[in-house]
Amino acid sequence: MFFGLSATQAGQHFSGKQRRKNPMNNLVLCGFMGSGKTTVGKKMAKRLNLEFVNTDDIVEQLQQMSISEIFRVFGEKFFRDLETRVCQETVKKQGQLISVGGGTLERPENVEIFRQAGDTILFLNTPFEVCYNRIKGDRSRPVAMNKTKEELFSLYQRRYAQYMAAAELLITQADLKALLEQPESSQNKKEDITYRL
Ligand code: S3P
Repeated sequence: MFFGLSATQAGQHFSGKQRRKNPMNNLVLCGFMGSGKTTVGKKMAKRLNLEFVNTDDIVEQLQQMSISEIFRVFGEKFFRDLETRVCQETVKKQGQLISVGGGTLERPENVEIFRQAGDTILFLNTPFEVCYNRIKGDRSRPVAMNKTKEELFSLYQRRYAQYMAAAELLITQADLKALLEQPESSQNKKEDITYRL
C-alpha cells in the first residue's frame, strides 16, 4: 500500500475498470497555495518513478517571465489561458506527476482536460492555517499578495469544494507524515494509488 492515501467520496465518475486500462496515466496533484504540492509532489514522483512536472514552471518558461510579472503586465485572464494551454499540452505525455497551481482547477475546462486524458487527480488537503503561514506576505504569489486573511480563507473554502469534487484521492497530513518517515530509498508502485478505489 502507498502511504495510507484515503479515498474521497468524490470522483465516482471513474470506475476502477477505466483506470486499469491505462496504468501509465498521469497523477495530478492539486491543492491550495502553500499546501506543499511541490515538496510533496517531488517526493511522490521519486517514489513512484514518475517525472515531476509543475505547470507554473512551464507557464514561466513559455512566457519567459515570472508569474507575478505575467499577472502585472498581462493580467490574470492571460495567465489562466496560458495555464489551460499548458494543461492541454502536458496531458499528451504519460508517466508524469503533474503539480498544478492552486487556481488551476477553478476552471471546469481544466478538470475536464485531466479527466478526458484519464489522469488521476489527487488533492493535497493541508489545513488553512498551515497554508496561510506559508503564503502570507509572499510577493511571488499575486493571488495571495493583496488579500487579507479573511479573504484568503473564503477563497480556500470555495476552492476546497472544487478540489474535493475534482479529486479521486485525498492526501491528508497523516499520509504526509507517513511519507516523510519512509526511508528515502523505498519505492512504491503507482498502481498502489490508482487501483485503490
Ligand atoms: C495561484 C497559485 C499559484 C500560481 C498562481 C495562481 C492561485 O500556484 O499558479 O500564482 O490562483 O492559487 P501555487 O498554488 O503553486 O502557489
